[in-house]
Amino acid sequence: MLIVIEKLFAPGEIAALCERLLAAPWADGAATAGERAVQVKQNLQVPMDDPVAKEVGQVILTRLGQNPQFLAAALPVTIHPPRFNLYRDGGHYGAHVDGALMRMPGEDRLLRTDLSATLFLNDPEDYEGGELTIEGQFGGQSVKLPAGDMVLYPSSSLHKVTPVTRGMRIASFFWMQSAVPDEGARTMLYDLDRSIQGLAPGRGKDDADIDRLMQVYHNLLRRWAQI
Ligand code: NI
Repeated sequence: MLIVIEKLFAPGEIAALCERLLAAPWADGAATAGERAVQVKQNLQVPMDDPVAKEVGQVILTRLGQNPQFLAAALPVTIHPPRFNLYRDGGHYGAHVDGALMRMPGEDRLLRTDLSATLFLNDPEDYEGGELTIEGQFGGQSVKLPAGDMVLYPSSSLHKVTPVTRGMRIASFFWMQSAVPDEGARTMLYDLDRSIQGLAPGRGKDDADIDRLMQVYHNLLRRWAQI
C-alpha cells in the first residue's frame, strides 16, 4: 500500500531546506547504483558525507519522529539517513527494486529495507515528468506530490522515476526497517490504528470498547513485531 504523509513540512520550511541543498555539491547518482540499476539511473545526488546533506537529513529524521501518522504507518526500528536526488534534462531512473540490505553509514550493522520513502522538496509545477511510478498488486500508481509531502511504499516493489523534461525535481529518499516486516500485517495494524484514532474522540475516557480495540492492536503488534 502507498501511504502519503501530507505536509510533513510547511511550504516555507521545505523551500528553505531545498535552497540549502541546492548549494551542496551534486554528483552523478550512478556512483551509488548497483550493477544492474546503474544501467537505468540518470540523476544527481548529494554525497552522503556532505555536511549540508547530513544536517538537512537530521532535520527530516527529527520531524519524522514527531509525526504520528508516519510512526503508525511505518513502525520504524531503523531509518537510513535521508539522501537527496535531483533530476533534470531528461534525467530519470528506470524500473528497479531497492536493495534488500543496506549498510548503515559509518556503522557495522545492516538495515533491511522494508519501506522506501520519497519526500518531495519542490512543487510539481516546477517540472514536467518526474513521476514516481510504483508497481503494485493492481498495476502501477504514479505519484507526484506537493513540496513537503512524502510517500511511503514497500521496498519490495518495482518502481521508477519518469524522465524530467522541463525544470528540475528535487527529492529526499531513504529506507527504513520496520518492526513489522510483513506488509500485509503492517497495513492491518495501520488501518486498525486509524480506526481507533477516529473512534476514540467520540467515546468517553473509560470506554471499554476502545480499550479492547487498543488491547487487540497492541497484542497483534506484540505478536508480529520482530525487533
Ligand atoms: Ni529506488
